[in-house]
Amino acid sequence: MKVLVTGSAGFIGAHVCRALVNAGHCVRGLDNFCDYYDPRLKGARVDSLCPMVEHRIADAEDAAEVGLLFDQFQPEAVIHLAAQAGVRYSLENPGAYAQANLVGFTNILEACRRHEVKRLLYASSSSVYGDKSVAPFTEDQPVNAPLSFYAATKAANELMAASYTHLFGMNCTALRFFTVYGPWGRPDMSLFRFVDAIVHGRPVELYNEGRSTRDFTYVDDIVAGVLGLLDKPNGHEVYNIGSGRPIGLHAYVDEIAQALGVKAQINYLPMQPGDVEATHASIEKLNRITGFSPKMSIEVGIRRFVNWYLDYHKVAQAA
Ligand code: UGA
Repeated sequence: MKVLVTGSAGFIGAHVCRALVNAGHCVRGLDNFCDYYDPRLKGARVDSLCPMVEHRIADAEDAAEVGLLFDQFQPEAVIHLAAQAGVRYSLENPGAYAQANLVGFTNILEACRRHEVKRLLYASSSSVYGDKSVAPFTEDQPVNAPLSFYAATKAANELMAASYTHLFGMNCTALRFFTVYGPWGRPDMSLFRFVDAIVHGRPVELYNEGRSTRDFTYVDDIVAGVLGLLDKPNGHEVYNIGSGRPIGLHAYVDEIAQALGVKAQINYLPMQPGDVEATHASIEKLNRITGFSPKMSIEVGIRRFVNWYLDYHKVAQAA
């Protein structure tokens, strides 16, 4: 199948591209290589994970560029992962989220409609559940009380997609990712930041005094969830893609320190505005529809990230 992946140089996007190519699909990428974090990491990521994929360098916000790409490639399915990500940055620069997540998504919806694309899968987020949901979070719980503007844009994407399904019969699937981690991960996220701090002898900054919990999900499990949904078109549907096994941040930092063979120093900080205290995915729906069953343990997943990090940064292991 001809599959267009947006955000193809991103953390999840590059891993998805690789898996699609390995599964025999014809893949094209779209990414603006923006500098929210070091674009050299994005370049190295695509060189390592999906060098065989052609990545068009353009913004999803640019309707003309998106239209041109659809005209040329004629995708049969679109996996839309391009977004301004990050919960905490959305307090600093909400405009970037409005542009990438609302304008960009509108362009993708429109291009899919005009080109009669049968399948659209798009990134949503565990953050849409806010702090009122009952754990484990099931997809039928209300998501109308976001704690951050980032979460608000992701919840808005789900409503926008639902309207396109209603109006134009498009098959749109929301992928609610739960705190994804693994090799080639994002430098603004906790695992990268914690490893980086420990390796460089800085204290780990632990928000909410370390009391938060996360349903950390290894990137290969995320990719398996996404690919499992590619051939399940059914109007507008929402799926959690998580591990279903939340852990506390303290235990998480302990695992990281063990993997690095050093003791972590911790700087306790207050809860960050916009953050949710706990996430916990119900993966029952995804399991029922696709047979999804996450494979990676947190111990092994963290070790894989640490090995990648040390290799990428050519840092000698401390222990
Ligand atoms: C992550 C991504 O950044 C979002 O793009 C994504 O949508 C979201 O996961 C999701 O699950 O949907 P977050 O859960 O905040 O958001 O992921 P991390 O940055 O890895 O943070 C995990 C936990 O560590 C949070 O409780 C955060 O407050 C904490 N943290 C993070 C720290 O204590 N210190 C840090 O330096 C960074």
